Amino acid sequence: MWIFDRLTIRIFTIFFLTIAFFLMLVMLLPNFDSRNLTYLANKEKDSGNLLAKQIEKELVNVPKNSFRWWMRFIVVMDNYQKPGQFLFIVTPNEQIITADSNHIDLVKNFNEKSHNVNDPAKKIYDSQEIIGPFLIHYTDQDYQLYILQSASDIQSQFANLVFDHPFLLLSLTMLASSPFLLWLSWSIAKPARRLKKAADRVAKGNLQEWPELEQIGSSEYKATGSSFNHMLRELKRMQELQQQLLSDISHELRTPLTRLQLATSLLRRKQGESKEVVRINSEALKLDSMIGDLLSLARQQYDNNEVRELKQIDVLFKSVLDNAVFEAEQIGKKFTIEHIPTNITILCYPDALCSALENVIRNAFRYSRSEIEVNFAVNQHSLTITIDDDGLGVQHDELEQIFRPFYRTSEARDRESGGTGLGLAIVSNSVTRDNGTVKAEKSHLGGLRIVIVLPIYKY
Ligand SMILES: Nc1ncnc2c1ncn2[C@@H]1O[C@H](COP(=O)(O)OP(=O)(O)OP(=O)(O)O)[C@@H](O)[C@H]1O
Ligand SMILES: [Mg+2]
Repeated sequence: MWIFDRLTIRIFTIFFLTIAFFLMLVMLLPNFDSRNLTYLANKEKDSGNLLAKQIEKELVNVPKNSFRWWMRFIVVMDNYQKPGQFLFIVTPNEQIITADSNHIDLVKNFNEKSHNVNDPAKKIYDSQEIIGPFLIHYTDQDYQLYILQSASDIQSQFANLVFDHPFLLLSLTMLASSPFLLWLSWSIAKPARRLKKAADRVAKGNLQEWPELEQIGSSEYKATGSSFNHMLRELKRMQELQQQLLSDISHELRTPLTRLQLATSLLRRKQGESKEVVRINSEALKLDSMIGDLLSLARQQYDNNEVRELKQIDVLFKSVLDNAVFEAEQIGKKFTIEHIPTNITILCYPDALCSALENVIRNAFRYSRSEIEVNFAVNQHSLTITIDDDGLGVQHDELEQIFRPFYRTSEARDRESGGTGLGLAIVSNSVTRDNGTVKAEKSHLGGLRIVIVLPIYKY
């Protein structure tokens, strides 16, 4: 029914039913206590009346108000008493005649509750029960017969305890119902957990849609799910627009730049080498490489023509690491590689991932003083690559920002040499695309440490 599809109605119904259930329980349960006064079924009534009639017949022989007339009553009762039974007769002036003086109080108590001979009742006292009253007619007056006998059904001690302590009963019911209520709350909150999972994924940069969010849970959740997916579509569209723009701009810039370079070489041929021309040429080259980086960043995010492949780590990174070793020798810096794993496979875009590692190593070469360390560590689900250097490092509050496109720390900006600030943006992009993470922290060597974590592929 559509109305139950609403969270508000669902929660209300659950509250309402639970409270109604507990109220009913508290109100109805005492009625099930077998120690309550219950009225006799016809069969019991008949047998009691029969007994009363028999005694009545005998009593005719007892003259009214004769000496010790009540003693003779006892004798008559004694004749009709079955083993385990005790009979009591209540006189019109509320006196009790019996051979069993021990239970007079019980009978008195019962007599207060049940004194209508037309509606005899039964009540259990511990292991005994009293039945009555049954009418005995004697000398024009009404006497009442009560029977005390051992109880036919004895309620267990535990049930007695529960019935005598309503609070205990309530606690027991709550205890018994808590798994059910827990399950209920869990199932109501289930779509919220899914939503959180989806939001976490989005926060990590995965803009894939979640159609199941629009199908499960109450209507409120479904509506949220569909807004969520709508938001994802919009985000994706905006991202694509932005990338398209980036790629268009860099592409358009290329043309005048090429003309500029052409003009410079013409100028060089005409006027020969001069300081200004060299400067123009080097700036043009720098601009060219910047545009190249921009284009590759845009292309990487935009068109996914590249395919994901399963690659073994040592094979994948071999050429990058070999080149780095060679380069380190050329520039005279110490470069060490530790624990490169064999037999570990990851699913990745190989070219992009290789160029990511290369970018990080190149930064380390550029910003280090004399030492660079690359370390591999494998645990159950992931591979961690750390790249350490002994340079100046990056201020704590800039550790996250260096992954933003064009971001360069002030020290780097002051330097003559250096790039455009796109390298780490490209790294972050390719690592997240392979479901990995990348972050920067302080290195034990004193400079910067870049940590790349990638999920291991399990066959
Ligand atoms: N190993 C490092 N030590 C100190 N600072 C670093 C290191 N790596 C990166 N940085 C800082 O982070 C900034 C961003 O790095 P990123 O690689 O994105 O750009 P870049 O190296 O300046 O230029 P590009 O890589 O595009 O040629 C750098 O400008 C630099 O300030
Ligand atoms: Mg760089």
